Amino acid sequence: MPMRKVPVQKFDGDDENLLKFRGDSILALSTLIYALILTLVQAEIIVMNVPQIRSLVANIAASIDLYESTGSEEFLVDAREDTTRLARALENPRDAIVKLFFAPSVLVIAKIAHDMEIFTLLSRATVPVPLSELAALKPADPILVERIMRLLVANGFAEEPVQCEYLPTAISKEMVQRGSVALVETLAIHFLTYIQKLPEYLKAINYRNPDDPLFAPFQYCHNVTVDAFTWLSQSSDTLKRFNSFMEGYRRNRPHWSDWFPIRERILDSQVLDKDKPLLVDIGAGRGYDLMKFRSRFPDVPGRLILQDLPTVIDEIRGAYDLKAAGVETIAFDFFADVQPVKDAGVYYLKSVLHDWPDTKAALILNNIKQAMKPGYSKLIIEEFILPDTNAPSLACMTDLAVMIFSSGLERNRQRWSDLMTLTGLRILQFWVSRGDGMEIIEAEFSEADQ
Ligand SMILES: C[S@@+](CC[C@H](N)C(=O)[O-])C[C@H]1O[C@@H](n2cnc3c(N)ncnc32)[C@H](O)[C@@H]1O
Repeated sequence: MPMRKVPVQKFDGDDENLLKFRGDSILALSTLIYALILTLVQAEIIVMNVPQIRSLVANIAASIDLYESTGSEEFLVDAREDTTRLARALENPRDAIVKLFFAPSVLVIAKIAHDMEIFTLLSRATVPVPLSELAALKPADPILVERIMRLLVANGFAEEPVQCEYLPTAISKEMVQRGSVALVETLAIHFLTYIQKLPEYLKAINYRNPDDPLFAPFQYCHNVTVDAFTWLSQSSDTLKRFNSFMEGYRRNRPHWSDWFPIRERILDSQVLDKDKPLLVDIGAGRGYDLMKFRSRFPDVPGRLILQDLPTVIDEIRGAYDLKAAGVETIAFDFFADVQPVKDAGVYYLKSVLHDWPDTKAALILNNIKQAMKPGYSKLIIEEFILPDTNAPSLACMTDLAVMIFSSGLERNRQRWSDLMTLTGLRILQFWVSRGDGMEIIEAEFSEADQ
């Protein structure tokens, strides 16, 4: 399309001509911008779907309004997902790839800043911190620190109100929290290598779907033949980091008691007695979920029991005061032994079965089933239930992470149903949480299934 010519007019200082001059100038400018955009679109430098962009902007605004009026987190999640789509729609494909190229650098810079204790100092600051103070921490070359800070500021990890002086942001403050530090460290120290080797590994196994927990990308990278959790247990630092990593991955996500009707579906049908096992959290990690349960139902009698590998039980002692919360601990290998706590009200598994392919997951479930009181004990599995289309990003990324770690997988309804059929457990209901939480599969072992 030929560019429309607009006659160039000079402002002669006369008030009468001022408005006309402005109008013509704006017209000339918009014509130029329009022509420029058109040229870029034709040159495939910008590919924009304006109606889609407008509709995403409207959706985001509507979700935020709904969040404001209801306080319900599900609308915030909708807004976040649409914002990602909007950013993608505004980006041209070439820039998207360039961004991909640079993405790992952000993580690495965050890790370096953490190592240099920049976040420790910055997160406490109430007035701008000069570059010289940040450089003095190690000490480091101020020119290097300036370059690091530039990247951090550009990526929201700090603010620079005046040149070479820095203020914390919400992200810099988060970067001193145990769980978030562990996320960055785990990725930098371990996961980046696994991800980097994934193409090589998948090629080596002829693009089969990984289904052997003793030969996942994890074992391929470390050249070991033990499962990932046994490997983690061999170093106290690594195990500690992993348990903190799990906390970081969990933080701020809803607890099942936030949305699942625990009283109606569980407590109302239980014999509540201080000596009877009420809730057994199997593969519980540091026990965050049990602690939260106790704080939600402080007066409900019944034993709360945390089970995990012996090394984990040893590691978690310092993390929370489990004893004060009345949480018992039992070291237990869910593959090797039948569940030692019989007839509990609830056997609870959160983010455990996704670590394992079906054969292994079925073994875990069979060992639990033998301890369940038919028609009384419930099995509560808190995991993602993948929708059949358009699964959310967090669930897909977690699916990849567990594949890498132990040939695990996230499951959709069909896969969950197949797994439960395999083990003779009956699904009572799939519970889909709206918001940032995971889903629940409520199951039991009935007399008829024996
Ligand atoms: C992904 S973490 C989930 C932790 C916790 N449920 C959560 O959601 O934060 C899996 C847990 O399973 C435990 N685990 C792995 N293998 C186990 C085994 N053979 N017996 C018992 N626990 C095991 C790990 O130590 C770890 O705490």
